[in-house]
Amino acid sequence: MNAVNEKKVAALEAVKYVKSGMTVGLGTGSTAFFMIEAIGEMVQNGMDIKAVATSNETEKLATKLGINVITLAEAKRLDVTIDGADEVDEDFQLIKGGGGALLREKIVAHNSVLNIIIADSSKSVAKLGKFKLPIETIPFATQLIIEELRGMGLSPVQRKKDDADYKTDENNDIVDIDIWDTDIKLTDLEQQLKTIPGIVETGLFLTTTNLVIIGNGEKAIVKKR
Ligand code: A5P
Repeated sequence: MNAVNEKKVAALEAVKYVKSGMTVGLGTGSTAFFMIEAIGEMVQNGMDIKAVATSNETEKLATKLGINVITLAEAKRLDVTIDGADEVDEDFQLIKGGGGALLREKIVAHNSVLNIIIADSSKSVAKLGKFKLPIETIPFATQLIIEELRGMGLSPVQRKKDDADYKTDENNDIVDIDIWDTDIKLTDLEQQLKTIPGIVETGLFLTTTNLVIIGNGEKAIVKKR
């Protein structure tokens, strides 16, 4: 079975956790797409939910499907958030931000009671870091941050789109770094990165995930923390 079908299998298993009356965090990306589509169908069939979107792209899709999208301030707290990941390890640690939405995704995950990650089987890894770790930076500081990260041996590369600097929904930059060979423990790395002024957020999600659902062929494998 191909990755696209596995994404769908995982998404359809995850939406079983969404019940009427809940406030739901909607993730971003090609796996989250299937979850939003399925929730849209549930809403069209009468389910009453409110949702917070983790990106402009997700907000547009959800609104088009008739899902009631509210702000995080209005929601205050979310019952469940379903999102994709670029990599997930056995300890429920993630790399996210391949689609550039890591900042809002991390804020929404932090404010959600239950966090479900959905992914195809290729995303499940023994060790994080084959996928380059996205870092969101304030444009004013990006070039100096790149120098600092280079000094740390993290081979930073500023993300581009159509020959211009890639911009997030918050109009920030993304710098992708290589953490594969670093000796620094992930929790320490996260802390070190967050102390550099101008780094707004990293794509390391180390503690927020409660449930991982992996599409594996026709089956969904559910792992609980
Ligand atoms: C968005 O910025 C990301 O964190 C996505 O959740 C992640 O990149 C997974 O995306 P796909 O489901 O498209 O692989």
